[in-house]
Amino acid sequence: MLNVSRLNKRFGDLSIFENFDLMLPRNGFTVLIGPSGCGKSTLFNVLTGVVARDGGEISWCGEEISHLRDTSAYMQQKDLLLPWFSLMDNALLPAKIAGENMATSSQKAISLFKRLGLDGFETYRPGEISGGMKQRCALVRTLMFERALVLLDEPLSALDAITRRSLQSLLLMLQIEFEKTILMITHDIEEAIWLADEVLVLSGRPMRVLDQFTLTGPKPRRLDDPELIKIKEYVLTLLQEYTAS
Ligand SMILES: Nc1ncnc2c1ncn2[C@@H]1O[C@H](COP(=O)(O)OP(=O)(O)OP(=O)(O)O)[C@@H](O)[C@H]1O
Ligand SMILES: [Mg+2]
Repeated sequence: MLNVSRLNKRFGDLSIFENFDLMLPRNGFTVLIGPSGCGKSTLFNVLTGVVARDGGEISWCGEEISHLRDTSAYMQQKDLLLPWFSLMDNALLPAKIAGENMATSSQKAISLFKRLGLDGFETYRPGEISGGMKQRCALVRTLMFERALVLLDEPLSALDAITRRSLQSLLLMLQIEFEKTILMITHDIEEAIWLADEVLVLSGRPMRVLDQFTLTGPKPRRLDDPELIKIKEYVLTLLQEYTAS
């Protein structure tokens, strides 16, 4: 569905990635995992046209496009909530800008607020809630976009274990029931194994794929599955070896 080839990005003398390739199958859940500062968020920014690229092609459903801004829903690493808007107004902003039916959008937002444990906080402002709540509100806003592709940059990093598990289930539902194609960044190897069909382990700058593997079997997965424990150890070793060398 998405085919990215020979993507290049530099910031001055710093080469972030060179000839970076990426392929996402329709309705797949692909997870990127790699050291801090390697260029994961930059990759998302380049894909969505937030930051200009220095070269390479992006094709979507066989057609070359300049970026994925109109094709994807993108949750950035920073929550980017507007501080003077209530959480509900923040969530509804994209729908308002797109001129969508506000009654339908409000219903959808109300049900997402409930699903993400934010009901009762609709009129609060971002300055009045916790970091994890801001992250959930940003996720609500992202899910308000009706797009086939969802890009999530560490969407659950600020959450406690229980909320995190519940939102991981929501992401699985999004993939399976709503047939979204998901590309997600995480630092949590267990989260990657729990959710992904495809895991890409990335190196430091210039960022390249150290290894890529496919996970099969029904989801949600059992983390005590010996095969998955082996994969987790393997990813850790790969990242450790890379960092040490
Ligand atoms: N706008 C920018 N101008 C200059 N350098 C930048 C800019 N954005 C990112 N960088 C640099 O690019 C490199 C990659 O940053 P990026 O945010 O993509 O890393 P990351 O893999 O997402 O890290 P983390 O896991 O910590 O979020 C860093 O060295 C960063 O300083
Ligand atoms: Mg990042």
